[in-house]
Amino acid sequence: MNFKGMDILDGAQFTRAEIERVMEVSEEMRERLRESRSLNLLRGYVLGTLFFEPSTRTRLSFETAMHRLGGDVVGFASAGVSSVKKGESLEDSIRTVDQYVDVIVMRHPQIGAARRAAAVAESPVINGGDGAGQHPTQALLDLFTIRTERGQVDGNTIVLCGDLKYGRTVHAGVELYKHYDCRLILVSPDALRMPPELTARLREQGVVVEETDDLEAALPEATVLYMTRIQKERFADPEEYERLKGSYVLTREMVERLNPDLTIMHPLPRVGEIAADVDALPGAAYFRQARNGIYVRMALLWLVTGQSEA
Ligand code: NCD
Repeated sequence: MNFKGMDILDGAQFTRAEIERVMEVSEEMRERLRESRSLNLLRGYVLGTLFFEPSTRTRLSFETAMHRLGGDVVGFASAGVSSVKKGESLEDSIRTVDQYVDVIVMRHPQIGAARRAAAVAESPVINGGDGAGQHPTQALLDLFTIRTERGQVDGNTIVLCGDLKYGRTVHAGVELYKHYDCRLILVSPDALRMPPELTARLREQGVVVEETDDLEAALPEATVLYMTRIQKERFADPEEYERLKGSYVLTREMVERLNPDLTIMHPLPRVGEIAADVDALPGAAYFRQARNGIYVRMALLWLVTGQSEA
């Protein structure tokens, strides 16, 4: 298994062995950070962060991860301040940044943008979210969180709830969960169901996938609930968003009544899907999940630079 130079573009690219390797290295990072705030594993390396779309966690956790590895970061957090604003093509921007840095992380509103970048870059390209497409590093940190919170991934019933049509974190997530002995229950309004070609492919691969619009019926079955935000920015029709935005709201009362042992996750940001009174429950894992992003992104940076083998 060789991660050196690997682009991280989608969930489907990973074998179970590769996922397990990322999990082990992430654990190692967590342990090493207990000893020291900065590890000096990537001293002299530079990460380029190209964010053409808003981000808090993905960008700041990648930057923090690189700093804690002893490396440096350059980049921008808005397309408006880059030469894209002057009309530069994505390919030319990437070719240029590729001259400066050793690894590129990018987020872009178009599906497939990271793959286009990877096609012209020598450096490894990591997809930090491509429109309604994929978000593989989030999916890996989600899997790491399930492993940490539940002890293992096998044996879980994972309820994925909310915007399964446009949500890139769940599109990447199911491609990882399929390697494990998990039951998947997809909860969404009919208009926001997971793309049918994706569910069909999972079923062909033998994954147990159920679909419903009833969160309360699914909750008692779950070990893990993964809530998502309705992706306002992907809707062509603002009225359609207004109609669907309040579809699901998880409350403390629901968890206590239906499944007190539930692990509750969310990639964040939340905009009303999880009531604030849920936060105090022991199973509310979403801020621990955000923290896990540091370990998993450190692991990925160390692996794709090839320094884990040095
Ligand atoms: C997610 C994203 O950007 O896709 N956020 C994240 O990376 N943690 C989820 C979202 O924006 O709803």
